Amino acid sequence: MMRVQYKKPWPLTIDKSYTPTITIILPTYNESQWVKKRLDNLVTQDYPMDRVKIIVVDSASTDGTGSLVEGWITTNPKVGVKLLREPVREGKFIAIAHALHLVDPTNEIVIFTDADAYWRQETLREVASFFADARVGGVTASILYADEDGVVRDDAYRAYYNLVRIAESKFRSTPVINGPLLAIRTNVLQKVGLPDFPGSDDSAFGSVIALAGYRMIQIDRTAVMEYIRGDVLQRRIRRANCLVLNFRNTKRYAKRMSVYVPSSFDVVWRIESWLTLINPWLLLVSVICLAAAISLEHSLIAVVSLGVGALALSMKPCRTWVLQQVYLICGAIRGLSNQDVIWNR
Ligand code: GDD
Ligand code: MN
Repeated sequence: MMRVQYKKPWPLTIDKSYTPTITIILPTYNESQWVKKRLDNLVTQDYPMDRVKIIVVDSASTDGTGSLVEGWITTNPKVGVKLLREPVREGKFIAIAHALHLVDPTNEIVIFTDADAYWRQETLREVASFFADARVGGVTASILYADEDGVVRDDAYRAYYNLVRIAESKFRSTPVINGPLLAIRTNVLQKVGLPDFPGSDDSAFGSVIALAGYRMIQIDRTAVMEYIRGDVLQRRIRRANCLVLNFRNTKRYAKRMSVYVPSSFDVVWRIESWLTLINPWLLLVSVICLAAAISLEHSLIAVVSLGVGALALSMKPCRTWVLQQVYLICGAIRGLSNQDVIWNR
């Protein structure tokens, strides 16, 4: 069903000559390795740069990121880059909330991105072209993982995951957002706000837009790269935790803020909530039951079932899927005690 939906044309008006004003918000903490490269990448987009502003919000980095950005601004005085320096580190959420106060009231689109990301040259134009349709409230892009030297990893699970997100988007909206690019129409952002429960992040910011009845879409006409760095396991569990929190909290948040509008997105929301909140535990329970049936009853059916499951693990997509279930379980457990506002790398 997802593949059929994925192949359908976009039921939206897409206009590549549409060039709204854009403000890009780039939060940084200790990004001296990446930040200059990231700014170079942003200002060389194939887009009228006089319509683009960039706000870097740095939370008291200790590795000189702030001075690097200042230096970059002096050597590139013609582009509209501003640096907001936070006196202490209070986390990404607080930083971007402060940066939003600096956005020009007439600005049309706000985009959040990360320092360890890379956009293709056409990305900004492709993203903007979808906002030509007034129903679109938010846009994210397909994500590819790259090694630190920029080589993109061939990743079957990631490809499938992007396919699902795009299929959901063509159907109505997607509740899962990629941090390297989240674009939101300013007046929609003003209306729905950024969910501020602990652990809320990109996905919650996007979900609330979809729950408010706007189209929140992952587009297929460009891709953004994210570099793999730091403690991968810790990061996967944190992200799984964010997903769990999103599906637990964002609908309630939208209702509390009186922005929730019933729509066909509710179908997507129900399926993804099930897959995120319940499915991982069903997998765990069934493995425990099968193991119990083997040790207590010497059940042949249980042996065969577990054997088939173990064989499936030899295929990478299955392995990745099972691992994702494990991360979701760890994320849910970890979220009971720790909802990251500040994280290490
Ligand atoms: N200003 C500021 N203050 N920026 C921060 C802080 C902070 O305290 N902490 C992290 N950042 C910045 C980083 O410098 C980077 O540009 C971006 O936020 C994402 O942080 P990463 O350290 O790269 O984390 P990630 O790759 O796991 O991020 C993903 O998950 C996050 C939620 O857990 C992305 O999807 C993020 O967009 C998402 O918020
Ligand atoms: Mn990152």
